[in-house]
Amino acid sequence: MSKVIISPSILSADFANLERDIKRVEKAGADWLHVDVMDGHFVPNITIGVPVVKSIKKVASIPLDVHLMIENPEKYIEPFAKAGADILTFHYEAVQDVKSVIDLIKSFGVKAGMSIKPKTNAKEVIKYLNDLDLLLVMTVEPGFGGQSFMSDCADKLPIIKQNAKDNLIIQVDGGINAETAKICTSKGANSLVAGNYVYNSQDIQKAIESLR
Ligand code: DX5
Ligand code: ZN
Repeated sequence: MSKVIISPSILSADFANLERDIKRVEKAGADWLHVDVMDGHFVPNITIGVPVVKSIKKVASIPLDVHLMIENPEKYIEPFAKAGADILTFHYEAVQDVKSVIDLIKSFGVKAGMSIKPKTNAKEVIKYLNDLDLLLVMTVEPGFGGQSFMSDCADKLPIIKQNAKDNLIIQVDGGINAETAKICTSKGANSLVAGNYVYNSQDIQKAIESLR
């Protein structure tokens, strides 16, 4: 397998020192920056919106991997694309017409990602894998950083992998550390999101290297 894409989640960064914390993970070898957008409806938490993504874009030198945990994501694809998202991942559970959301994301020249929550069966999304650039398997219930990894969610990875084209990015998010990263990559993940593990470590570079 080619290199695993590491995408630290800035949800665990210090929002009063966001630029500093972005530079820290960039220097430490992060490939992407994972930006968790929550609306207080799809998930019981509110985080970052379009203006913050726009500001992050000005200081970040790696791609912005924007995870939309929001209802009606189709309404916000254009503003987030224009704010500088390089990858836009919406939730399968939040939309009616999956294909049209994928097409909308791609129409802005942005990589199209779709995510499934822990209770969603992987088999339901197989028919969309050819249209997607990225499929995100949540390994916690979305909404908060710092939760424990749900190992049964990782069992969806081989099903996705078996049915995916070679260049599909298969990402996991939630409770990822050196140990759970190994479980996920052995089952087919090639991109890892990690918030707490990266930002709360003494040595961020070592933490990122330990995920690879
Ligand atoms: C959870 C978010 C995650 C979160 C991961 O809803 O989607 O990206 O920041 O945090 P950790 O790695 O701490 O579980
Ligand atoms: Zn996320």
